[in-house]
Amino acid sequence: MTDDRKERQREAYRAAEPAEGPLTTDQGVAVDHTDDSLSAGERGPTLMEDFHFREKLMHFDHERIPERVVHARGAGAYGYFEPYESCAEFTRAAFLQDPSVRTPVFVRFSTVQGPRGSADTVRDVRGFATKFYTSEGNYDLVGNNMPVFFIQDGIKFPDFVHALKPEPQNEMPTGASAHDTLWDFVSLQPETLHMMMWLMSDRAIPRSYRMMQGFGVHTFRFVDARGKGTFVKFHWKPKLGVHSLVWDEAQECQGRDPDFNRRDLWLAIEAGEFPEYELGVQLIPEEEEFSFDFDLLDATKIIPEEQVPVRPIGRMVLDRNPHNFFAETEQVAFHTANVVPGIDFTNDPLLQARNFSYLDTQLIRLGGPNFAQIPVNQPVAPVRTNQRDGYHQTAIHTGTNYSPNSLGGGCPAIAGPDGYAFTHYAERVDGAKIRKRSASFQDHYSQAAMFWNSMSDWERRHIVDAFRFELGKVGAVEIRERTVGELAHIDYSLATSVAEGIGVAMPSPGGNDHKPVASPALSLDNLRGD
Ligand code: HEM
Repeated sequence: MTDDRKERQREAYRAAEPAEGPLTTDQGVAVDHTDDSLSAGERGPTLMEDFHFREKLMHFDHERIPERVVHARGAGAYGYFEPYESCAEFTRAAFLQDPSVRTPVFVRFSTVQGPRGSADTVRDVRGFATKFYTSEGNYDLVGNNMPVFFIQDGIKFPDFVHALKPEPQNEMPTGASAHDTLWDFVSLQPETLHMMMWLMSDRAIPRSYRMMQGFGVHTFRFVDARGKGTFVKFHWKPKLGVHSLVWDEAQECQGRDPDFNRRDLWLAIEAGEFPEYELGVQLIPEEEEFSFDFDLLDATKIIPEEQVPVRPIGRMVLDRNPHNFFAETEQVAFHTANVVPGIDFTNDPLLQARNFSYLDTQLIRLGGPNFAQIPVNQPVAPVRTNQRDGYHQTAIHTGTNYSPNSLGGGCPAIAGPDGYAFTHYAERVDGAKIRKRSASFQDHYSQAAMFWNSMSDWERRHIVDAFRFELGKVGAVEIRERTVGELAHIDYSLATSVAEGIGVAMPSPGGNDHKPVASPALSLDNLRGD
């Protein structure tokens, strides 16, 4: 047994399984025969009273739970995280204070679009979600392998995912991302374009989960012991470097081994070649919130590393495979709102939506409100709540369960003002209720162009080929043309190369007829809207 708090907790659950003895029913009654159902005569009907038969089929009939609405296919592993040095200067998060403290973690890598049984090496974003079982509760960094996202506001997420998922009439395509609905959405929603450039790049076909970056995407907030905030972006860098497949390899892998990335992760860990990632942060003092030509709250933008370098703060090693895929990798529940003292949110409208969505979806996916009791989700920090009952309650609570409470007998006291409890960051909020995004969110092309300009010749060729392959499958000519017209806002040679490859008219040099809004100089006034 590893000397690890999470591992000891897992082992306690494993030990509960009967090691030896005869087959029994769920009630513990030994079974004499499990190959033939009880029937009236050798060739007669099956009898209702065969409780073993009915229980066995009932349980089998209910083995499946709904797959995740996105990120359905994944692979997980346990490991640990250790900081290089104390980060007390920026955050009071307990797991970022002491280099001698190893915090257990569970990581789930995933594809986004396909169902649970789809192939690994499709062109897609990859999820990179980490659960830190810290001494002050669970912290989840639910990231992707690309540093930006398709949309700026979570209210568009259902529209985006409906467009991305298989088309409703025939459930095609289930693998690659190329189809009319996705490109229709993209061509009408220019904020998607920066992420679409990443998606058409080789980043979308990673060779291995061990060779993939991860990003928290949003701007989060560190909070130090005095309550001072610092904006932070999270980056994972793989020790093995970033490597991708080329498109032909990716397609061949889909046929030869649909589990290509999952198998690679599993076998590497079994062989003792433990994947390792460095955690880095970009730190932005609060006073510099408005000193960029984009909005820190806009998840379709990166903060260029030339402007704010990534500072390495620790490393993560994945050294244990799960015992059971369903129990652990399938039932793990990540949630952006699982934060610990010292890490807080910003008003990024995508992040705010996620803080609602994960808990909400897990309520149905994991069958009720008690999924934090599932072993993989259990914190190693003590849990004391007044929450009771509900589907799949496994605790036998005693005592009272309300607060304030003069009777005692189980009701936990509120933590004193000793800095241990989570206190929401006291950000001042002031504004009229409006459905209007700040002008500082309106420049959709500059960073897409920056991405294109940073590519080498062969990387550009791959991007053009990917656009030709994916867009070339779109049936509606007007969608192809409109998309090419959007690409012209990013780079005219990119747009014309794609147009030529898919046989549509050349776009006008100015692109589609809506003017990109130049980034306004950021000031508190235009960030507030009116
Ligand atoms: C999974 C919603 C944006 C990363 C999920 C799931 C939902 C969801 C409902 C399934 C969770 C489950 O069943 O347990 C949303 C919404 C978003 C959003 C509403 C935008 C408003 C993002 C972004 C990222 C991301 C920007 C990356 C930074 C992930 C990952 C998973 C996931 C990694 C898989 C977690 C796992 O491995 O279990 N998301 N998502 N999502 N999402 Fe998002």
